[in-house]
Amino acid sequence: MGRTVVQLTLIGLQLALASTLPNKDDWDIYSFHINSTVTSRYATTVITSRVVNRMDESKEIEFHVRIPKNAFISKFRMFIDGQVYDGVVKAKEQAQQQYTEAVSRGESAGLVSSVGRTLEEFKTSVTVAAHKKVTFELTYEELMKRTHGKYELQIHARPMQPVKDFKVDVYIHEEAGINFIDVKGGLSTKALANAITKTHVNKQAWVYFYPTVDQQTMCDNCGEQGMNGDLVIVYDVNRNNELGDIKKSAGYFVHHFAPSNLPRISKNVVLVIDKSGSMQGRKIEQTRIALIHILNDLAEDDHFGLITFDGNIFPWKLELVQANSKNVESAKNFARNIQAGGNTDINQALLQGANMLNTHDREGSASILILLTDGQPTTGVTNLEKIQSNVRQAVAGKFPLYCLGFGFDVDFEFLEKMSLQNNGVARRIYVDSDADLQLKGFYEEVATPLLTDVTMIYVGGTNLTQTNFSHYYNGSEIVVAGEITDNNIETFTLQVVAISSNRRLVFSDPNGIVESGGSVSDDLIQRVWAYLTVKQLLDKELQLSGPEKEQVKKEALRLSLKYSFVTPLTSMVVTKPLGETIHVLHKPKECEAPQSMKPPGRQSISRHGGTSTRHRSDNVATTIDPAVERAFESWFSSLDPGEIVDIYQFFTEDRGFYFAKPSQSRKKRPTVKEILLDVFVEHYSLHGDPLQATDAPLLHRFLLKAENQTVPLCFDVSGALSLKLLHHPSRELFVNGELDSVANRGFKRIFIHFKTNQHVEIDTKGVTVRDGQTETHHTGQDLVTAGSVTVIMRNNEIDIAAGDVRLVILVHEKNSIKFLWPVLRQHPSANNTDGLLALKSVVYEKVQQVPATKLKIKNQEINVTNGNASDYSIASPLMMNCWLTSADSALQRPLADFVVPQL
Ligand SMILES: *[C@@H]1O[C@H](CO)[C@@H](O)[C@H](O)[C@H]1NC(C)=O
Ligand SMILES: *[C@@H]1O[C@H](CO)[C@@H](O)[C@H](O)[C@H]1NC(C)=O
Ligand SMILES: *[C@@H]1O[C@H](CO)[C@@H](O)[C@H](O)[C@H]1NC(C)=O
Ligand SMILES: *[C@@H]1O[C@H](CO)[C@@H](O)[C@H](O)[C@H]1NC(C)=O
Ligand SMILES: *[C@@H]1O[C@H](CO)[C@@H](O)[C@H](O)[C@H]1NC(C)=O
Ligand SMILES: *[C@@H]1O[C@H](CO)[C@@H](O)[C@H](O)[C@H]1NC(C)=O
Ligand SMILES: *[C@@H]1O[C@H](CO)[C@@H](O)[C@H](O)[C@H]1NC(C)=O
Ligand SMILES: *[C@@H]1O[C@H](CO)[C@@H](O)[C@H](O)[C@H]1NC(C)=O
Repeated sequence: MGRTVVQLTLIGLQLALASTLPNKDDWDIYSFHINSTVTSRYATTVITSRVVNRMDESKEIEFHVRIPKNAFISKFRMFIDGQVYDGVVKAKEQAQQQYTEAVSRGESAGLVSSVGRTLEEFKTSVTVAAHKKVTFELTYEELMKRTHGKYELQIHARPMQPVKDFKVDVYIHEEAGINFIDVKGGLSTKALANAITKTHVNKQAWVYFYPTVDQQTMCDNCGEQGMNGDLVIVYDVNRNNELGDIKKSAGYFVHHFAPSNLPRISKNVVLVIDKSGSMQGRKIEQTRIALIHILNDLAEDDHFGLITFDGNIFPWKLELVQANSKNVESAKNFARNIQAGGNTDINQALLQGANMLNTHDREGSASILILLTDGQPTTGVTNLEKIQSNVRQAVAGKFPLYCLGFGFDVDFEFLEKMSLQNNGVARRIYVDSDADLQLKGFYEEVATPLLTDVTMIYVGGTNLTQTNFSHYYNGSEIVVAGEITDNNIETFTLQVVAISSNRRLVFSDPNGIVESGGSVSDDLIQRVWAYLTVKQLLDKELQLSGPEKEQVKKEALRLSLKYSFVTPLTSMVVTKPLGETIHVLHKPKECEAPQSMKPPGRQSISRHGGTSTRHRSDNVATTIDPAVERAFESWFSSLDPGEIVDIYQFFTEDRGFYFAKPSQSRKKRPTVKEILLDVFVEHYSLHGDPLQATDAPLLHRFLLKAENQTVPLCFDVSGALSLKLLHHPSRELFVNGELDSVANRGFKRIFIHFKTNQHVEIDTKGVTVRDGQTETHHTGQDLVTAGSVTVIMRNNEIDIAAGDVRLVILVHEKNSIKFLWPVLRQHPSANNTDGLLALKSVVYEKVQQVPATKLKIKNQEINVTNGNASDYSIASPLMMNCWLTSADSALQRPLADFVVPQL
């Protein structure tokens, strides 16, 4: 307490400071983790970077990442020496002062600045004492926007150095069901393909990206500084309901509306193209190419107009014409001959474009005005406000205006304001080799209008986000969120009214039943509402002036502060320790997890102390269902005394099974029968059928993923065998695991042997490392290295990086008993690896259904039946259907090949 602190502020949208690159010898990012969770199109991403200062002196350590522009940062924390430094979101003016003061004292500050087309850069640094560690944790949130029929989650990976424990975990949950999921982006190339794993089970999908250090320096977008590129997760949801999805919880709702089975309606499109002198060269060339694409794409019943302008206006035709092949050919000729030169009269050009649309009969069609410009108005009316008011008057809310700003010489705010005032949006076109594709891409977003004059009506909803939309285009989505008045779900109803050609359509739910939030957390829907509201208020603020503007700004600021969003109106302030003297004072042990974070660990009983004091709690006994007790009695009386002793010993001494229960103070020693009753109840709760509790063979069910088939294979392995998980002879790496002696409980222990003298033994309690002669034991959250094996221990998983292998050992828990499940997140490239984890996805086809289902694998027919299995390869195991067959059939080899005599 009372220590000296300095305020560090993270100011939004400022220009970047000169970048200082990390010196690899000084500090080491030993773990870099991006964890993205998407629920109902709302993505929350946490970037965690753990860094150690390997110098003998204190060092300024930088955290520098890129996040999508559309996202709001909502949390930033640093963990140094067991202390947490939490960022607080403050109004920008307030933070600005602290920021200026910090900078004037020569201290570094955190910044968010814009880079490239879709990303923003976040940068900060902190001074870390010699040989100390720091963890940076940044959280950002975004509502994904549907364009071209898909959502894209962009994850930028640029840790600034190769990182042993680099990983990206993405989890997507969509109640409507995920229609498809793909992984794209610069990092999704061949060289990194085996680092990406994708699992998709109707409503849920997981994508893992675990590249090795070698891959991080050798892939296309990589270098000595490691990776620098994107992973883009592309997906869409099922749309079985024309009214869309509605999610409600804790008084808020969010409605996603994107009907797809509608006919297109014809459109009237006028393209207003700047051909002033500044467009000369590449820009005008790319514009010509894009125009020809766009003209080719018009449908026969569309009408179009083409106007080019500099200081004068050059319409191709004075009025809209039909897009028949003759007209399109002629317009293409016109487009091919556009030459750049002259001034820029945006006002006159837009007025003429609006006039063309106004004089055309637009009954039953959708009108669209598109402006492309690369500069500011230089002739005619040049006062920006005047132009805006003229255009607004001419458009009069009858059709949307889209403004495309080409390059950075445009006044983008002017274009943005003008578009927003006319129900449109502005888009920047980046001067680059693909500018024509950017233009074409934008046009395609609006190429297929399906509805006009869309009005979303929510009876019993208040504080709604935008509800009126001039057009709805194929491939897009309308999202509305709001509060449910008095949280009264009974009276809440919704309806969408819109025009499709000349028909008035009403979408409503005939039963008045509205899908509830399902597994969506209460908090989330409210955050979606807040996110959307703040975005729209910021847009609105741009269009207004005077007291109205101030009012809107105030509200946007209030919500940004309440929901802790870093927006252009707010900043995040982090109070961090000043000077190293503080660091060396009292030291809790580095990286030691607080007590509550340590895995509790199963209490196993020693073979000699069979009558330890840890015994059944009375309250466990009292909760037993009488039916279960009867079943137990009947089972118990069927056993002979020898069997009773065997079972008792097996569970209590060997397994410690019974003692996993919370032990409480008890009055007297339990009888054998009481202990067996507990065992029985435990078993009953796991397997359901009390009478088969001990007859049931000890089976472990394994899943084998199938290529191009949604249903995987599964097979059972019987007994507490030791299995070959991964043998990688060229790296001298061997991983074996011992199955648990309780059915379907995965592995009890996993051994990793590297070269001849490095061994890592993992059980649910911790990790033991033997490196040559030295043996160390680790529990809690820790980083352990043994030769070139790195083991990162987290709450419920252990990550292992060894050469070209990335292995994750998940620690699952069922009925308070923990067990292990290994997953290979990076398949080694060598072709001589072996083991259960090295198996490739099986390729099968279904050949026969009756009388028994048969599958064909590599020309061999096998019998299968319908089965179920838990997929333990993901953090929260999921039950899935599978084709059950024998292990030998599934593996196409005798199971015995995978059994090892010792761990
Ligand atoms: C990722 O984030 C989700 C949601 O916060 C959390 O439940 C999960 O445990 C995280 N995963 C990892 C590997 O940290
Ligand atoms: C809308 O897009 C979907 C695919 O995204 C396509 O199947 C459908 O035909 C399109 N509708 C129209 C009217 O073009
Ligand atoms: C919703 O609107 C009412 C008045 O329209 C206002 O009093 C209330 O604060 C709003 N709720 C939120 C969360 O902004
Ligand atoms: C939305 O449209 C309806 C009818 O088209 C109109 O009555 C209502 O005032 C509009 N609301 C807003 C906020 O523009
Ligand atoms: C699986 O599908 C992919 C793409 O659809 C295809 O390239 C591949 O050949 C298919 N594999 C098999 C075994 O059919
Ligand atoms: C394994 O790969 C090596 C080179 O990478 C090659 O020489 C060898 O033939 C391959 N073996 C098999 C069985 O494919
Ligand atoms: C598969 O099932 C058929 C009966 O449908 C049986 O005759 C055959 O022996 C079975 N094959 C194997 C390999 O078990
Ligand atoms: C699979 O599990 C579901 C529910 O968990 C159950 O309804 C179904 O009958 C099971 N199927 C088989 C073949 O066991």
